Amino acid sequence: MDCTTEPHNIIVDVHVTGETPESARAELRAGLLATPRTLPTKYLYDDRGSELFEAICELPEYYQTRTERQLLIDCADQIVDLTKVEELVELGSGAATKTRVLLDAMARANQLRFYVPFDVSEGIVRRVAQELVNEYKGLQVHGVVGDFLAHLEHIPEGGRRLVVILGGTIGNLAPQAARTFISSIHSELTSGDFFLLGVQLETNIKRIEAAYNDSAGVTGEFNKNILHVMQEMVGATLNPDSFEHVARYNTTDHRIEMRLRSNEHQTIRIPGLDLSFDLEKGEEILTEISTKYDHPRAETLLEDSGFDMIKWYTDPDELIGLALARKP
Ligand code: AVJ
Repeated sequence: MDCTTEPHNIIVDVHVTGETPESARAELRAGLLATPRTLPTKYLYDDRGSELFEAICELPEYYQTRTERQLLIDCADQIVDLTKVEELVELGSGAATKTRVLLDAMARANQLRFYVPFDVSEGIVRRVAQELVNEYKGLQVHGVVGDFLAHLEHIPEGGRRLVVILGGTIGNLAPQAARTFISSIHSELTSGDFFLLGVQLETNIKRIEAAYNDSAGVTGEFNKNILHVMQEMVGATLNPDSFEHVARYNTTDHRIEMRLRSNEHQTIRIPGLDLSFDLEKGEEILTEISTKYDHPRAETLLEDSGFDMIKWYTDPDELIGLALARKP
């Protein structure tokens, strides 16, 4: 019996245009000069930041991950039956935990042929590819390492495909960026392909705020990690201990906004930039937005981009929505 992995079952394409210190400095400069002052959200996620985010997903207050997972368990068979797809493309696949729910349903229906994990982390794409070809007999994995906001054209051609974005990832994008992104997914797909979009819902604002202000302080550590990333990446001078985690709901724009508030007057300097940034005591820097949707707003986002929304799934408390759409 052959127990080794079949290397011909795995292809991994790498398209990352790596961050350089120059590009990082330029982005930090632009963000810190903007109104309001902003830091690029992606800098929350170095190795430590990704570990902290995984810890957030286990918090009692952070209901999002487990609710979406349960919702997927409840509707996966129907999605597979409705779409008849044999290829799953996952944008922002990460550790692919929730993916297995969909892959299991495809395998049960004898419809599982291709899985395309698309993620910025090469290590994670390779590990997941290896694990999944071991777990699912006959599965072909074609991983893509890249930024799915920039490299969507590298999604391999396939049979009938289901592209999924889970985890409320779309929530990090401001309205115009979200529309542009969904439109570019639409133009990458072929008529008859499907798209499954997971969104966090606005139903219970108290509960949302609690999810970003956990009593163990993990979200605060996650937020402050961006300061350590700045110190390590470009040697920024700042006092991380003087910053406080702030997460408030913005009802006008339907989103949680995470900020870092400086509890003292301080000057941020970045070597290589002939410019320093004076923070007043109490001044805040925006680090992340997390947009919450409702059924109509999710449908508008999809239909404005040319998709037909064919199914809307939600959990009993209406905390998470899964919108199934089709390119006509
Ligand atoms: C990964 C963007 C879905 O917005 O809920 C969790 C990130 N930030 N706690 C979210 C996050 C603070 C998360 N997303």
